[in-house]
Amino acid sequence: MRPTTYHRGRSGYLRRKRMTAALSVVAAFLTLAVLTVAQPSADATAQAAALPYQDASLAVDERVDDLLARMTLDDKIGQMTQADKDAIVPQSDVKTYRLGSVLSGGDGTVSPNTAQTWADTYDALQRQAVATPLAIPMIYGIDAVHGANAVRGATIFPHNIGLGATRDPALVERIGRAVAEEVTGTGVDWTFAPCLCVARNDRWGRTYESFGETPELVSSMATAVDGFQGADGPGSVPASVLATAKHYIGDGGTTNGTDQGNTQLTEAELRSVHLPPFKAAVDRGVGSVMLSYSSWNGVKVHGHKFLVTDLLKGELGFDGFVVSDWAAVDQLDGQTGFTADEVSRAVNAGVDMVMVPTDYKKFISLLRAEVNAGRVPMSRVDDANRRILTQKFRLGLFEKPLTDRAYTSTVGSAEHRALARQAVRESQVLLKNEGGVLPLAKSAKLFVAGKSADDIGNMSGGWTMSWQGRSGDITPGTTVLEGIREAATDSSRVTYERYGNGIDGSYTAAVAVVGETPYAEGRGDRPGAMGLDQEDLQTLAKLKASGVPVVVVLVSGRPLDIAAQLPDWKALVAAWLPGTEGGGVSDVLFGDHRPTGKLPMTWMRSASQQPINQGDGKDALFPYGHGLTYGAVTEPEPEPEPTPTPTPGTGICTVTAKVTSSWSGGYQADVTVRNTGTAPLTGWAASWDLGARTITNVWNGTLTTSGGRATVRNTAWNGTVAAGGTVTFGYTANGSAAGLPAPDCTATTGG
Ligand code: GLC
Repeated sequence: MRPTTYHRGRSGYLRRKRMTAALSVVAAFLTLAVLTVAQPSADATAQAAALPYQDASLAVDERVDDLLARMTLDDKIGQMTQADKDAIVPQSDVKTYRLGSVLSGGDGTVSPNTAQTWADTYDALQRQAVATPLAIPMIYGIDAVHGANAVRGATIFPHNIGLGATRDPALVERIGRAVAEEVTGTGVDWTFAPCLCVARNDRWGRTYESFGETPELVSSMATAVDGFQGADGPGSVPASVLATAKHYIGDGGTTNGTDQGNTQLTEAELRSVHLPPFKAAVDRGVGSVMLSYSSWNGVKVHGHKFLVTDLLKGELGFDGFVVSDWAAVDQLDGQTGFTADEVSRAVNAGVDMVMVPTDYKKFISLLRAEVNAGRVPMSRVDDANRRILTQKFRLGLFEKPLTDRAYTSTVGSAEHRALARQAVRESQVLLKNEGGVLPLAKSAKLFVAGKSADDIGNMSGGWTMSWQGRSGDITPGTTVLEGIREAATDSSRVTYERYGNGIDGSYTAAVAVVGETPYAEGRGDRPGAMGLDQEDLQTLAKLKASGVPVVVVLVSGRPLDIAAQLPDWKALVAAWLPGTEGGGVSDVLFGDHRPTGKLPMTWMRSASQQPINQGDGKDALFPYGHGLTYGAVTEPEPEPEPTPTPTPGTGICTVTAKVTSSWSGGYQADVTVRNTGTAPLTGWAASWDLGARTITNVWNGTLTTSGGRATVRNTAWNGTVAAGGTVTFGYTANGSAAGLPAPDCTATTGG
């Protein structure tokens, strides 16, 4: 019998509130009995759920209301606590402390490392969670950032920098779906992906986790969220996995590219460059957002109420939950460990779940004390729980808390590997092809060299089988060398010697697969030189000395400083970090796939140019978007037929300037250009008389001054403004803001 429909009216809420704990215990016992014996059988699930929150036919917010009304403070604090699997000793602490979430950090693993073992581990932890009085399932998170990359035998896809080179958001969505299936097969419900960081300085050790250097490119790849969750949000498809937009906000914009550093930008710049990808993810219903370790103008994001609550939850309307990064709360006071003050500061700023991740008992007691002392309002605790529980209900965890073993066999499946190979093909960027040395003939006599030619670990990079990754045969896959040999007409004509020893002039060409060895996060920061290592340089010197044409395949997590060596190379392919399907690289080398990749990052001429990005006027070795193909030898891919565009004309726009801060002798202004016409703008310019003022800095625009007037025009990436749309640029100036004239606006449309 269905329970009476519960209204959300005050009386209904109060009535439910009066339900005795005994009823909850009965419900938990019933749930435990079913789960302990087996997954609920047909007749068991057919029984009416004992309590409203267990009734899947009710609306999610009704279920949340009902459950919240039954929860104690300990239940609620438990939901806000995320602990690392390996720190939970004994495992029954999940039940004892009512932990709402478990994670495996980068080095989290199981033994033996198989999908089955992961699923068994997950189920054991989940059984502890649903043995709590209210039987609230825990949610398990992991960094499945380029596959179920903690699981040996899983399909490892290209890291995001390579996916950015594909310019193929639909492919990225399909990859998200495949990863979700493999992750589901291991029991895990939540991935800490996609990273929607906009990497502005290639020195950053996480550059490869970024889809690119522009907000447009990164925003376009928010389709990964739909892949992981389903297009209609968490739980909207089978094998739906909660996605995480990370790391909010400005992680890729720190000064000098220092990981966890300080992002020194005005609000206008932060909003223009680093916010759009998160808006794109929120608009796609992303269920969680992870905060960035970094600071904004000296203030840690993890304690920044304006950024987290006002901007993300308020202005963007994010209704999922905010999770901290690993032990990030500990950093708020600059001392090791975490304190009650740090806990309340983070939670009050808007953190809903804290990735503690080890001393969960201390966290729980500190938060309880802060709530009881009134320093964390109960309303904040309830809001956090509402956000967390909503995602758990949407995912269906209450109905199916244990692993769906039907998906375990998808881990490393041929279908997923084929998809990964397509992604590898599409991510290859042909940067140089002198004399059409590429594509290679499959009958050619080839000499293959380089430390990454036969190394799955190097091809996969960080976040693969371990946090930092490592060189070597770390998981099953196809190396670039194996791909070349499989494609060759006669594999005996393909010689491999890592260091180039033995090469002579009898070879058609030499293929050198060189670049970076694995790293993750700050350990990958490169504040100094950004060139090839000594082994690679020595190998390349041997190949060059033979007089054989050299084709370089660069396996790296970022552009490298290779301008000095480039003249010695007949061809250069940026392979990025392709993962386990190296056949996708050989597909391009032999022309089975014409290269279509485009640079997601501007390629420096020298490390001294960092940061170097599109539109900054610096002289790059290869510009953002560069990528050659085959056919007319080295001619770039013919431009696609232009879609008919309206005849060029003048647009209609208005400009409003707002002084955002001023000081003695100077001021800063944000200037908004609005398209007040009916046709999209393709370019705009704002101009005004300077008077006694001089402009000292401009962002999101290009400045020219003449005859005492300043003119700021659009950059390459913000010239398009839809009818009714706006774009903002900013500037600082010496002089007084008083009497600032309203700028004139001119704009173009079409063509
Ligand atoms: C790391 C990373 C974050 C990751 C988390 C859990 O420090 O910053 O991207 O999701 O910890 O492993």
